[in-house]
This record gives sequence, structure tokens and C-alpha cells, in this order.
Amino acid sequence: MKFFLKPQDPSKLDVDTLILFCWKNELNALKNFNSELTDLITHAMQKEEFTGEEKQLLILSTKGYIGAYKLIVCGLGTKEEIDLLKLRSIVALTVKRSKEMKSAKVALVLDDFLMKKFTVHEAVEVTVEAVILSAYRFNKYKSEEEKKKFRDIDEVILSIPAGKISSAEYAVEMGEKIALATCMARDLVNEPSAVTTPAFLASFATSLAKQNNGSIKVRIFEKEEIEKLGMSAYLGVAKGSDEPPKFIHLSYKPPRFKKKIVLIGKGITFDTGGLSLKSSEHMETMKLDMAGAAAVLAVFSVLPQLHVSSHVVGLIAACENMPSGKALKPGDILQAQNGKTIEVLNTDAEGRLTLADALSFAVSREKPDEIIDLATLTGACMIALGQEIAGLWSNNEALASKIINAAKKGGENIWRMPLESEYKDLIKSDIADLKNTQTGRYGGAITAALFLSEFVSKTPWAHLDIAGPSFNEKESPLVPKGGSGFGVRLLLQLLTES
Ligand code: BES
Ligand code: ZN
Ligand code: ZN
Repeated sequence: MKFFLKPQDPSKLDVDTLILFCWKNELNALKNFNSELTDLITHAMQKEEFTGEEKQLLILSTKGYIGAYKLIVCGLGTKEEIDLLKLRSIVALTVKRSKEMKSAKVALVLDDFLMKKFTVHEAVEVTVEAVILSAYRFNKYKSEEEKKKFRDIDEVILSIPAGKISSAEYAVEMGEKIALATCMARDLVNEPSAVTTPAFLASFATSLAKQNNGSIKVRIFEKEEIEKLGMSAYLGVAKGSDEPPKFIHLSYKPPRFKKKIVLIGKGITFDTGGLSLKSSEHMETMKLDMAGAAAVLAVFSVLPQLHVSSHVVGLIAACENMPSGKALKPGDILQAQNGKTIEVLNTDAEGRLTLADALSFAVSREKPDEIIDLATLTGACMIALGQEIAGLWSNNEALASKIINAAKKGGENIWRMPLESEYKDLIKSDIADLKNTQTGRYGGAITAALFLSEFVSKTPWAHLDIAGPSFNEKESPLVPKGGSGFGVRLLLQLLTES
């Protein structure tokens, strides 16, 4: 898909679909086409009672009155109520419809007011991201015959006033990079776990480093080295699988930097639950359990190109959670790298065990200014916040509010949750320092976050439980079913700001 910025009269654009936007009850704005097309639009608007309501669509054949073959008019709602989140999903909706109409060449006319309410950069970047994200499909495993049913959009023209082209150019570039990174994370999650093994993630990280000629460094710690590092909690989870664990260490270090940030992604390449086996219904989507790792890898793929000024380290304790004769058993006790002992009562609460060691490693070896982990950690977080909102826990106010702002700008939905220290009693073990499940049924996402907090010492840290939004069970205009690439946009927003 290629983007072009063009200042010319939209009626001259030779495209399959021309997309126009329209404010609620301001239909006159559409009347500067030739009189034949204006009559056609006016008639259709009356007939279909089109008012410009948010997401209201009018789809017409242009009958050759202008260069475009088809016309989509989409309501933006009111000028007061529009925000970047809404703009994103409105653009996504129109692109999805164009794709359904098998358009290969699409043009979008960006309303002048959008570029006044937001900056030119914001409006253009959001539009480009929405176009790419809504056009995404994972159909590499479909037969050629099935693939043919989907027409890819090859060309996207953004029609904007001539004076705004130069500031829009950089926005197109940024939007493309951020959206393509999000698609990379989606691909990694959508691939079956037979493909995305720990070894696959390790070689994926290695190839990222190769492609970025030296600006990204990677080190893969093999099982023996992980043992030497004392990461017994992580190794406990990996024990049941024939796939060897790989501890992936990525580093992006610009020549001068003020801050060092560690990003940790949960990298369970498949979560069967281990001996505390999941039901088949709950296991169905568990290839998603490396969505945090996928987001971290995707972020690294664009760090050098986005000229991020912080030193960023990425850590992924990749392994599978499998039952077998060698598997971890309920009742076993493991010792994490920071010395704390953990009684494992449920082998399905494995993410916190791998993260305990990754967090301990980050604190003791990397000594960063900030740590952010992304993890598909608990079903309880989905009970609390639903499938579209990630939970945020943090021991640091400044870091939490930076993440909340970055998520807002990146168009991702997160909600701050309490690190309620009173609940720490619920994860105290009778015979070890901690247990990996809690006493009682309630507040499971909070006790999981409290468990992680035992491994971060005093380092400013934020934990994002992305169990809900990392995987779409039902299609939305911006995200088809499957991996969503959640977290990539908020992390890139955060890193490009600081
Ligand atoms: N990977 C799951 C969490 C999950 C569930 C992610 C649904 C995405 C969708 C995690 O390892 C897990 O199994 N957690 C258990 C913890 C429990 C045993 C304390 C859970 O949430 O049920
Ligand atoms: Zn689990
Ligand atoms: Zn898991």
C-alpha cells in the first residue's frame, strides 16, 4: 500500500473510491462538485435521511460525473465531539467499506477543520494509521482461491490543501511506521504456536538486529545460561515442554541518552495451563499468550527509524507452558532470581513466574530508570475491564500518567487499577515467601500485579495486563478477529515523547 499527498481538486482524482467526510447538519460543504454530482448527492441524502451523524454512511456510484468510480460520504458527528479516537474509527470504517467494494485505489479528502482542531500532523498520522490497520488481514494460510476474494488496497491518496503538504509528509511516514509495527505484532500473535516457538521468537529478534545494522543488539540466553543466572521460576515453567526456553535480550542505545527504559513482554508461546490444564474452550486462543513479547519485538523493529532518544532494553522470557512427565507440579517451590521463594499452587498462573525472573533481571542487571511490562496475565482483568481495556498498575505516579497520556494519543484504551497493599496477605504462602495463586476468588488481576511488584524493588515500574485487548474475538473496523497489536502504539508514543 502506497500513500500519496495531493492538493488537487478531489473531483479530478482517478480512483476507485473517493471518501468524503461530513459534519453533522453541515451538508452544504459537499456541494462544491459539479452540479450533476451535487444533485446526485443531495438527492441520496434526502432519500436516505443522511444528516452527517457520526459513522452514518452514504455510498453512491458517481455515474462518471467525476474521476472517481464510487463515492463514500461518512458522517463525522459534531465538531465539538470529534476526537482522535473517533476519527480513527470513522476512517477505519470507510476504508473497510472500500475494501469490501474491492477498491484498489482510494482517496480520502481530509476536512480543513480537522486540521485546525488537531494539528496537521495528528490528523494525517491518525488517518494513515487507521487506513493501514483497517486494511490488515492475516490470510497467508488461505488457499490462492480464497485469497483472491480479498482485494488489497494498493494506493491511498490523501487530498489536503497545498499549504499543508510539507507538514503532512512526516506524519505519513510516522503513521506508516507505527501502523506497520502494529501489524507486525498482529502477525506474530496470529501465527500458530507451532511456528512461533521460543526459538522462532529468538531468531526473529536476531533478524531484527541484523536488519538494523548495529543500532539494535540482541543476545539470546540459552537454558544453561538461564540456569546460571538463577532464573529458576522461569525455568520451572519451561520444564514441561520439549521446546527449549530462550531468554531474549534486546538493546537499542543511541549515542547520547538521558534515560534507560526496560520493556518486558510476557512470552508464553503457548499456554496449556501445564498440569493445571486448561479446558479446551479456554485453551483455544492461547497462542495469544506471547502478545506482550510480540509488542516488544514490534516496538524494537522501528526504534531506530523513529529516532527514539532513550536507551531501551527489551526482555522476553520465552517458553511454552506444557504438561508432561517433566512438568512443574502444584505444590512445587521455586526460587526467583531475586531470592524470593514461590509456592506454585496452580501451574496455569505461569506468566507471573516467568515475569518474576525477567523483572528481577531488569532490576539487578540493567538498573533502569523505568520498567514497563506487558502481559496477557489474567482472565480476571478481562472480568474487571472487558475485552477492550487493558489494566495499568504502577508504583510511580509520573510514569503512570505518562503511560495514560501516551495510550490516549495512540488510541489505545487503558485504565489505572490499584496496587492495593492490603491484598498482599492473599498471596502469602504458608511455606514459601509467596504463592502464585491467591486466597479466595476475587481481585485476581490485582493480586497478580501485587505478585509482580515483589520483584521490582524500588524501580519505577508499570504493568499492563493486556489479556483482554490483545486478541479480538469479534471483528471491529480497526482490528479484524485475532491479534490486535495492542501496546505497540502506546509504547511508541511514550518512547518518541521522552
Ligand atoms: N494466559 C492466561 C491469562 C489469559 C486468559 C490471557 C485469557 C488471555 C485470555 C494466564 O496464564 C492464566 O492462565 N491465568 C490464570 C491465573 C489463575 C490460575 C490464577 C487465569 O487468569 O485464570
Ligand atoms: Zn496460564
Ligand atoms: Zn498465560
